[in-house]
Amino acid sequence: MNNASKRMMFDATVWTASVLMTLVLVAHEAMAESKTFAAANPKWTAECGGCHIGYPPQLLPAPAWRRIMSGLDKHFGTDASLDAGTAAEIGVFLEQNAASGKRARAGGDTVRITDTAWFRREHDEVPAATWKHAGVKTAANCTACHTTAERGDFSERNIRIPR
Ligand code: HEC
Ligand code: HEC
Repeated sequence: MNNASKRMMFDATVWTASVLMTLVLVAHEAMAESKTFAAANPKWTAECGGCHIGYPPQLLPAPAWRRIMSGLDKHFGTDASLDAGTAAEIGVFLEQNAASGKRARAGGDTVRITDTAWFRREHDEVPAATWKHAGVKTAANCTACHTTAERGDFSERNIRIPR
């Protein structure tokens, strides 16, 4: 083999390797995206992150958020009312970042993330007894297992199941 064809083979190898690297990075990005939910609004953090974590807007479709925001005075057995201006701003934020695609289609007509089809599927390996564990109490208590849920990170490596 002369130097020119060696050079061509080398170039082809480098090219193939870099295409593969790019594919790996893109796939990784797509996976990371579905487990980490970035969206921030100071009013939402203050008003919706006090009693429980601020549930990522991406986990419910827009119609569900609309229903939640129009019934804050009777919010899961508690009164979470807000003044009209604050409620309107948070409502827009939630709907703009709401679930799309598969998660929206698997949302059904529930206002509970924990009642959606995708949530049940993702959590079908959690034993019934774990949900009743003193450190969990309710499926809505995401941080009991997702140690970084507060910052929207639900990736597997940050899950610790209370035992
Ligand atoms: C006064 C306390 C309080 C405030 C403030 C509050 N919530 Fe809640 N929220 C609750 C309680 C209690 C539940 C029921 C939790 C359970 O089932 O264990 C709940 C449940 C939820 C659920 C359903 C969780 C599930 O089971 O999937 C969503 C979604 C939700 N809240 C959104 C919001 C939003 C959006 C705001 C801000 C506008 C907000 N909450 C403010 C008390 C509050
Ligand atoms: C009792 C522990 C527990 C609680 C509470 C819990 N989860 Fe999970 N969650 C898990 C486990 C275990 C998995 C599955 C990990 C796997 O098999 O990849 C999971 C998976 C997920 C995934 C998918 C992540 C992925 O790997 O694609 C999301 C999103 C998620 N949970 C959101 C939530 C939300 C939102 C809440 C609260 C409303 C919640 N979880 C409450 C244990 C829990």
